[in-house]
Amino acid sequence: MSAKHAALTVADSGKQTELPLIEGSLGPATLDIGRLYRDTGLFTFDQGFVSTASCKSAITYIDGDQGVLLYRGYPIEQLAQNSSFLEVAYLLINGELPDAGQAQVFEHEVTHHTMMHESLKTFMHGFHYDAHPMAMLCGVIGSLAAFYHEQLDIDDAEHRRLAAIRLIAKMPTIAAAAYRYSIGWPIRFPRNNLEYCERFLHMMFEVPSEPLHLKPVAARALDLLFILHADHEQNASTSTVRLVGSTGANPYACVAAGIAALWGPAHGGANEAVLKMLEEIGDASQVARAVQRAKDKDSGFRLMGFGHRVYKNYDPRAAIIREMCHKVLDELGVSDPLLDVAMELEQAALKDDYFVERKLYPNVDFYSGIIYKALGIPTSMFTVMFAIARTAGWVAHWLEQSADASTKIGRPRQIYTGAVRRDYVAVDRR
Ligand code: SDX
Repeated sequence: MSAKHAALTVADSGKQTELPLIEGSLGPATLDIGRLYRDTGLFTFDQGFVSTASCKSAITYIDGDQGVLLYRGYPIEQLAQNSSFLEVAYLLINGELPDAGQAQVFEHEVTHHTMMHESLKTFMHGFHYDAHPMAMLCGVIGSLAAFYHEQLDIDDAEHRRLAAIRLIAKMPTIAAAAYRYSIGWPIRFPRNNLEYCERFLHMMFEVPSEPLHLKPVAARALDLLFILHADHEQNASTSTVRLVGSTGANPYACVAAGIAALWGPAHGGANEAVLKMLEEIGDASQVARAVQRAKDKDSGFRLMGFGHRVYKNYDPRAAIIREMCHKVLDELGVSDPLLDVAMELEQAALKDDYFVERKLYPNVDFYSGIIYKALGIPTSMFTVMFAIARTAGWVAHWLEQSADASTKIGRPRQIYTGAVRRDYVAVDRR
């Protein structure tokens, strides 16, 4: 293989091609196979895109073997320690940490776009009272295009920027409204005198009849969880946002598609599934049985919150959240036996050859639900929390792709396995 190319000769046809080698700033070199079909008549096949890059991006870098996660080059551990969710959102979108003035302008813009149109409440009241909040979020976010149709020119950089701000600003308001509707409480307006996470907790839990007393640790813990969930390279939901965006669809449709993809239990829906799994296991004495079930292919049972397509080492986010659990529960004065079950389950799995051989470690979803539960957030809202945070990453990737003139519509090919050509048969001859 030459320094910049891989020469390919197809054995039976003898056809040849040279595939350029693309090197990024970090990560493995990549074969550009764009000319493969033209030169050799061959497709490539990579179920689940295990080793296929779909785009170039400067936003997030993951080294799955080393357990490294960088947002615009900054290690997640340092951002978790020093930053805030809104500062991380600015970083993901703009590529640089804001100075004090830029941070103030960004926070002011987000704060003054938190309201949702009053007629959205009518839309929400059309849902059945027990609708899953992810179903409501998906529908309502997609409907935002109906309220901003004069500012949907995706070729207009200001329209794109404003849509990104609106999505980051309104996601918590709409999420909290979905929760309030599901418990029959009146929807609360966002209070602009509060910080992003504190404002969300007030919209979630404040009742008209009495003031809400929040412990400072609650908003701090939520802000940290939002930082850790903000972006993660080309995960299924972000890839969905990019694919939908590649058709020129508006940003609200793109993010609604991302919400739909995130909802799956193999992806963001795992945090809700982890809590249900821990509750089903019940106590530490049942952990060994759960591990055995997870190893049995016929059981259909997996350890939710375990394993990752990219991390073949401990998910750095899971390590941070696991440490947070003890601190947050102590400061909230909450003890949760499910944390003991989770810790026991982790220890049992990490000592078991099945998990060790497959490099299955806890991922971001394994411990996050313990903290959400301690904050009083119902299990049905766990993936909604993930969506609020991931909106920063989704809009950052949508903006990056929308500004890239080389973007092509995403249109994969296939291996056709159906019937070969045949003629129609009249019904009386079938
Ligand atoms: C997120 O992509 C991202 O970046 C996602 C995310 C983000 O921030 O956006 O990090 C967020 O989605 C985290 C993942 C949340 N999902 C779960 O926790 C669900 C449980 N985990 C899995 O289903 C699974 O591990 C995936 C979906 C996460 C990854 O699946 P892969 O990469 O396609 O791996 P696989 O299904 O091919 O599994 C490889 C092997 C298989 O065994 P063998 O066929 O080789 O014998 O590992 C086994 C699997 O059966 N396996 C598990 C397992 N996960 C994989 N066995 C038991 N329990 C598990 N959790």
